[in-house]
Amino acid sequence: EKIYVGADIGGTAIKVGICNENGDLLHTFEGPTETEQGTDRILSNIAGYARHIVSESPYSWEQVAGLGVGIAGFIDIPKGFMKFSPNLPLTNVPLKDYLEAALNKKVRINNDANVAALGEAWGGAGRGVGSCVVYTLGTGVGGGIVVDGRLIEGFTGMGGELGHISIVPDLEAIQCGCGKMGCLETVSSATGIIRMAKDAVERGDRTSLTAIEKLTAKDVFDAAKSGDEAAQRIVSRAAFYLGKSLAAVSVIINPQRFILGGGVSAAGEFLFAQVREVFRKYAQDRAQEGVDIVAAELGNNAGVVGAAGLLLHA
Ligand code: BGC
Ligand code: NA
Ligand code: ZN
Repeated sequence: EKIYVGADIGGTAIKVGICNENGDLLHTFEGPTETEQGTDRILSNIAGYARHIVSESPYSWEQVAGLGVGIAGFIDIPKGFMKFSPNLPLTNVPLKDYLEAALNKKVRINNDANVAALGEAWGGAGRGVGSCVVYTLGTGVGGGIVVDGRLIEGFTGMGGELGHISIVPDLEAIQCGCGKMGCLETVSSATGIIRMAKDAVERGDRTSLTAIEKLTAKDVFDAAKSGDEAAQRIVSRAAFYLGKSLAAVSVIINPQRFILGGGVSAAGEFLFAQVREVFRKYAQDRAQEGVDIVAAELGNNAGVVGAAGLLLHA
């Protein structure tokens, strides 16, 4: 029996999982990315965790058909070459070559949000939906576009990089980790929400938010839910640009469903209601007919399942 290992590499954690040939997730393991230790440590952690999960499972290394990887950043997908990552120290890194040499297995690399979208399309909120667009709202804002069951990767792998839609007007824009101004990620990621909250505290806005060092996006949502007006303005701003980006995407792709996942989406209805309202207001009526905006279903596991699926659905 063959097994398929999937890895989801984020800024703080690397999640690995073992799937069978049906894409069922049998085992998972999570370890720290150790981003601050630099490029080499990240690479050896990916390889190390892949070996570790198999060794602690009932399967043997010989049964491993390959490793699929979802990782944040701009990738030459066929080559598995990391060109740049806004939130990870991985510039010009031949990730696929490294892992194939380290593990002596077939390796497939794709973008973290792309594989999450594949996971959702195969077995989550996108199942049975012809075309869906997934946003992952976390440290960054990721995007994955699946049309007629196929992932849109684009000319150089930048297809679906929805976090870098330039959408905030110049007067209010700040520079993104990608180097450009006014990207969606600067306002609708957890990082962006935390930054806006710190700015509000520093400006002296009236707010219950105080612990500015270890403030989380969840703190901002909690404050907004309990009536803090400064926090509410931040959430509305995050929801406004996110909703407007959905409206724009709706006349490019015209997907049937938008799926929102990632840590920020845990804010639930409070956030979703605002995003829907903005989308309904700005999206062309004929492009929003029958279109819904729902939460991701696979949660934390979408990336691992989608990554393992890179080998299964190739
Ligand atoms: C990166 C994407 C990634 C997203 C979520 C963005 O900053 O550009 O490649 O999918 O963060 O991790
Ligand atoms: Na993507
Ligand atoms: Zn950007």
